[in-house]
Amino acid sequence: MAKVDIGESILAPMAGITGYPFRKTALKYGADFCFTEMVSATGFLRDDKTTLKLIEAGKDTKKTGIQLFGNSPEILAQAAKKAADNGFKVIDVNMGCPVKKVVKTGAGSAILKDVKLFSLIVKAVRQAIKDSIFTIKIRSGFDENSINFIDIGEIAESSGVDAIFFHPRTKSSMFGGIADHSLTKKLKDAAAIPVYASGDIFTAEDAIRIKNYTGVDGIMFARGAIGKPWIFAEYLNAGSPQELIYLTNIKLKTDIIIELMEEMNLFYGKERGHKLIRPHLYSFLKGFRGSKGLRCEVNNARNEKELVSVLKMLAGEGNFA
Ligand SMILES: Cc1cc2nc3c(=O)[nH]c(=O)nc-3n(C[C@H](O)[C@H](O)[C@H](O)COP(=O)(O)O)c2cc1C
Repeated sequence: MAKVDIGESILAPMAGITGYPFRKTALKYGADFCFTEMVSATGFLRDDKTTLKLIEAGKDTKKTGIQLFGNSPEILAQAAKKAADNGFKVIDVNMGCPVKKVVKTGAGSAILKDVKLFSLIVKAVRQAIKDSIFTIKIRSGFDENSINFIDIGEIAESSGVDAIFFHPRTKSSMFGGIADHSLTKKLKDAAAIPVYASGDIFTAEDAIRIKNYTGVDGIMFARGAIGKPWIFAEYLNAGSPQELIYLTNIKLKTDIIIELMEEMNLFYGKERGHKLIRPHLYSFLKGFRGSKGLRCEVNNARNEKELVSVLKMLAGEGNFA
């Protein structure tokens, strides 16, 4: 077992979102630790170029966990060992992804349905990475008729998993309904290993409420961090005068978004950078009055220079709702 010293304010793995530029920005603005998006264990073992780009961590390897997906205990174990050899401090196995493409291969949340396979995977990975932190990210079960997170948690703990990231929805509910954090509390009460909450944590206030209610060891921010990398600083500084700096300073927020945009262009090149910044911009603009019209303005911006001037104009007008 390894000591889980990753802090309590964590950037979740998010496909298409948590590439190096966003992780770097989140760490700069208060995240204690972050995760790559899920990458195929097979692709990683093959040194697939796209996979390697997804897990690039620059100088942040020690603050970055790699998330692997797959369905084979042996391949996941080999990939985990390779990740540890490459300096990743935390190796997480995805057992919650509800996306068809992943589930139909028996990976992601499909593993929750097959407790025997689950058990083989955790034992094989633990055996392969004796000194690294080994975590799993799970949902509450595969569907409403097979909610088994307590059993899964028990097997995980007895097999040497170091911590659990928990999203209290089933695979079948995808992102519908509300994340039921009474289940998170049940898991936290039952488990001796650290449990981290994920699900519907959109503000620092949500994070504090869920932390206090469940007693979890930390919070994993996902959609709440898209276009708002300062959410970590807000959480970190909640209740202090420092928090207000982030809550009220629209110029600072705009500058951070522009900084993120520049990081993305640098890392991905302008064309891909322009595409990947979109979800951040749309989420950021939601905070403004007349956000629909602003979205059009952003869409109409023909290049980075025009985009920056739209954002700067917004910051100057103080239209933040
Ligand atoms: C765009 C997107 C991509 C995601 N990709 C992953 C992923 O690669 N691995 C994973 O374990 N979870 C993934 N998730 C799930 C999140 O990590 C998180 O558990 C979920 O969004 C619930 O948190 P939230 O309601 O606060 O967003 C993804 C979620 C989103 C919105």
